[in-house]
Amino acid sequence: MNILGIETSCDETGVAIYSDTGLLANILRTQTEVHQRFGGVVPELASRDHIQKILPLTQKALTAAKLSLKDIDGIAYTKGPGLIGALLVGAAFGRSLGFALNIPTIGIHHLEAHILASLLETPAPTFPFLSLLVSGGHTMLILAETFGSYQILGESVDDAAGEAFDKTARLLGLPYPGGAALAKLATQGVKHKYHLPRPMLNKPGLNFSFSGLKTQTMQLIRQEDTTNPQTKADIACAFEEAIIDTLVTKCKRAMIETNLTRLVIAGGVGANLELRQRLQHEVTLLNGELFFPRVEFCTDNAAMVAICGYKHLMNGASDNLSIDVKARWPLGVHKD
Ligand code: KG4
Ligand code: ZN
Repeated sequence: MNILGIETSCDETGVAIYSDTGLLANILRTQTEVHQRFGGVVPELASRDHIQKILPLTQKALTAAKLSLKDIDGIAYTKGPGLIGALLVGAAFGRSLGFALNIPTIGIHHLEAHILASLLETPAPTFPFLSLLVSGGHTMLILAETFGSYQILGESVDDAAGEAFDKTARLLGLPYPGGAALAKLATQGVKHKYHLPRPMLNKPGLNFSFSGLKTQTMQLIRQEDTTNPQTKADIACAFEEAIIDTLVTKCKRAMIETNLTRLVIAGGVGANLELRQRLQHEVTLLNGELFFPRVEFCTDNAAMVAICGYKHLMNGASDNLSIDVKARWPLGVHKD
């Protein structure tokens, strides 16, 4: 079985091929240059760029895998959540190609794909496991009971962690996309020079909140002289420390509450090296195991869509011919 995976939920066009022997191709086009001067993703420009790039990227993926279209046995594309116009490009392309080739297609939940990205690695986590999903749009602690069964144990009540990174980066005058740039700046900062609040740590439960932290950081930026590069780096460091402390504390709490020992990192903020190191340390202290995908499988990519589609199609699932995408799409059930 060779499965073509397509990702177009936001500002990355991805095409990958996953087969019985593993990942054969993983091609990504990042639209940073398209959106950079606007300081954020412009949905209409994202859709147009996906349209222009999807076909050449598919040809590139087939060449990399040394396959032709007739070797493809199924197609998986991101169905949601995401930008509706951007999703429609991947869905219309994937569905039409599937129809033309007379092979099954399946729409994939973007968050499930993120959660399963670690299955691309060796050793891969086995079910059940806990997942910390931290991306630009979501911050969640998820209990992945088995393949296809996900329970949300906690989530952000306001901004997502990645969103907080991006907004703070913007306040610090860093270029879009801000998360990675802020993390880089934070490495130059002096630890504990400033202290920012750790939201929701004193409250029971596994929910997160980052909007208060963002406001406090904004006030700190106004108070201090951010024309001084060292001050800027110190603020970036304090902000990153506060976010990571919160994420790490809630992960530990979830591991203890559920008695689960496997923790899987997913989503773009999972690329943050400081977060990975802190979690590795704490999970080891709890005699647990930490799994995280390579950085390129944390941020949006099609390899995670292809492996997710491979598993669903192998299970006999497939969708009908209608082209159906979802800007909002809850994942699994909430625990409460
Ligand atoms: O999963 P993703 O690629 O897209 C969504 O589905 O949202 O996540 C993108 C988010 C952005 O907010 C970006 O700033 C953040 O991940 N990000 C990081 C790092 N690399 C990407 N945040 C913190 N540290 C990083 N190294
Ligand atoms: Zn994502």
